[in-house]
Amino acid sequence: TVLIVDFGSQVTQLIARRVREAGVYSEIAPFQSAEEAFKRLQPKAVILSGSPASTVDIGSPRAPDIIFQSGLPIFGICYGQQLLCAQLGGKVESSDHREFGRAFLDIADGCALFDGLWAPGTRHQVWMSHGDRVTGLPEGFRVVGTSAGAPFAAIADDKRKYYGVQFHPEVVHTPDGAKLIANFVHHIAGLKGDWTMAAYREQAVEAIRKQVGSGKVICALSGGVDSSVAALLAHEAVGDQLTCILVDHGLMRKDEAASVVQMFREHYNLPLILVDASDKFLSQLEGEVDPEKKRKTIGRLFIEVFEEEAKKLGGADFLVQGTLYPDVIESVSFTGGPSVTIKSHHNVGGLPERMNMKLVEPLRELFKDEVRVLGAELGLPEHFIGRHPFPGPGLAIRCPGGVTREKLDILRQADAIYLDEIRKAGLYDAIWQAFAVLLPVQTVGVMGDGRTYEFVCALRAVTSVDGMTADFYHYDMDFLGRAATRIINEVRGINRVVYDVTSKPPGTIEWE
Ligand code: XMP
Repeated sequence: TVLIVDFGSQVTQLIARRVREAGVYSEIAPFQSAEEAFKRLQPKAVILSGSPASTVDIGSPRAPDIIFQSGLPIFGICYGQQLLCAQLGGKVESSDHREFGRAFLDIADGCALFDGLWAPGTRHQVWMSHGDRVTGLPEGFRVVGTSAGAPFAAIADDKRKYYGVQFHPEVVHTPDGAKLIANFVHHIAGLKGDWTMAAYREQAVEAIRKQVGSGKVICALSGGVDSSVAALLAHEAVGDQLTCILVDHGLMRKDEAASVVQMFREHYNLPLILVDASDKFLSQLEGEVDPEKKRKTIGRLFIEVFEEEAKKLGGADFLVQGTLYPDVIESVSFTGGPSVTIKSHHNVGGLPERMNMKLVEPLRELFKDEVRVLGAELGLPEHFIGRHPFPGPGLAIRCPGGVTREKLDILRQADAIYLDEIRKAGLYDAIWQAFAVLLPVQTVGVMGDGRTYEFVCALRAVTSVDGMTADFYHYDMDFLGRAATRIINEVRGINRVVYDVTSKPPGTIEWE
């Protein structure tokens, strides 16, 4: 195990992720409880994270002494490097040479961290984000790398196996960063790298058992990858103490509810209740054109329906949620300032308080692609794991203007054809998310010898890493022509198809 002591950096989870990628188990402990975690985990190496704090300030966070007394290898990153110096007798100062963003590291000397990677005299791109910097080294340390703004950008004490870097090796903007972290855990800490998602699965299952005891557990299954993986883990942990509830709000894609139910009931024997609440949702959405009101109505009804069903089961003590790490960072912002609500995202937030349930969140530390690996580990079929994201409010936010059953039917058909064409062209996995939107606009066309006056369908496809930013997908025109022709020929109610070439920002991925 590697213990990562967290001093509040936004990217600490990325360090954990890089260590996992190197095949070594890691746990993150906030600095306040690092001593307790150290004793409990008995790690083989320690990494100190970055921080928004400054070691120069009185009362700024420190690493517990036990870590330095242990004789274990330590890797300090950014604030972690400054701490190494501050706590071991070096010097850190606030500096005018602030460095934010891309910078270049000149390798001054070889060290185990750079093994097989960076030779003396070479220059490499790294990512910096610091105001303070080290200005004097503790005894035993030497400089192994410098940058324009940091004369001590990389330091090493080979004897004690202490290493520190001012830049962030955990982010992708330091292209060799992952290898650097792998060097630390493999070469310096001597860890083997045989840990896999199978081990994560076992640990997660064990943790759920411990948390839940003999309590009753429910899970809102959406059919998406995250809630599915969370449900499967919980089922493996507590079996029939778990009941999953799938609320069909009438805003799902073609055949979606049925196929999810079939998979979970038949292949997994998972206790699953399917609630058809489409009448309720569609009647209350009738005539609503304001995107935020639509979202809020759907969120409120979802909670109502879910609560009713849970009551029928006699209540529950725990709610399983497929919260991922990016959801956690987005909600725990360090800026503390008010951020603008672009869209009210729909989730089951609000339920735990109302029903007095505790949350079980087994995916809190993972990123989407890691959840996919875990899903494969749990035996979920590949086509299911690779599915594009689908928003909680479903097709309602892909029907600008009012939602009606008729419009939803038209949209479902167009969407299914579009995705079918994407799959046939072998493009599905290259695209992050693709869907059809039914516009509340009718235009004139001619089909056969007759005039038509029907709706416009917009097609959307984007590439993205995390949904936060996105680029529209650059199809070739033949593909778009094929998809458009099929939609217009096969779907009654659509006589024109357009393609959305807006990136995010300034657009968003969904239209509402
Ligand atoms: P936007 O439209 O904000 O979407 O660029 C970013 C990603 O989030 C999905 N999305 C949602 N997912 N509940 C969800 O679970 C929601 O309310 C919601 N709204 C948007 C969207 O599909 C895209 O993948």
